[in-house]
Amino acid sequence: MKKMLMTLAAITIACVTHAQAADVTWQKDIKPLFDSNCLSCHGKENPEHDEFAKDKKGYTEKNIGMRIDTYSHLITYVGWPYTGALIRRLDDGTSREDKKPGNMYEHLGATDAERKANLATFKAWVGNWSVKRWKDITKEELDAIQAKY
Ligand code: HEC
Repeated sequence: MKKMLMTLAAITIACVTHAQAADVTWQKDIKPLFDSNCLSCHGKENPEHDEFAKDKKGYTEKNIGMRIDTYSHLITYVGWPYTGALIRRLDDGTSREDKKPGNMYEHLGATDAERKANLATFKAWVGNWSVKRWKDITKEELDAIQAKY
C-alpha cells in the first residue's frame, strides 16, 4: 500500500512538473522577467560571450555583462556551449554543490518572495534544473530540458 501511494505521488509530481513546464515559454514568461530584472546588464548593446571573455575583469568591474537578451542567446547558457550556466547563476543554493546562491540570484527580485517566485518560473521553463557542465551532463538530462520558445 505504502509503495502504491509513493508511486502515485511520484506520478502526480511528474505530471504537475510536466504540465508547468509545458505551459512556460520564453516569449510569454521569461522575456518579460528577463527584461525587467536582467536586461540592464545583459542587453543587445552588451558584448557577445567570447568578446566579453577577452576582458572579463574589466567588464565585470563596470557591471557590464554579456549579451543574453534573445532566446537564441539565453539557450546557449542552458544547453550548449555554456551548459548549466544559467542554472548555476540563478540557483538559490539548493542545487549547487557549495549550497550558496548563484551570483545572479539576487537580481531575480527585490524581495525573497519575488526571487523565489521568479526562480520557480525559470525552473519550470528549463524543465530539468541541472547545474552540470557539458562534460558531466548526460544525454537523458539534456533530453529533459524544455526551454520552449
Ligand atoms: C547589475 C548588472 C547585472 C544584472 C542586473 C544581472 N547580471 Fe548577470 N552578469 C552580470 C555580469 C557583470 C556578469 C559577468 C560577471 C560574472 O560572471 O559574474 C554576469 C554574468 C551572468 C551569467 C554568466 C554567464 C556565463 O558566462 O557563465 C549569467 C547566466 C547571467 N549573468 C544571468 C543573469 C540573469 C538571468 C539576470 C537576471 C535575473 C542577470 N544576470 C542580471 C551583471 C548583471
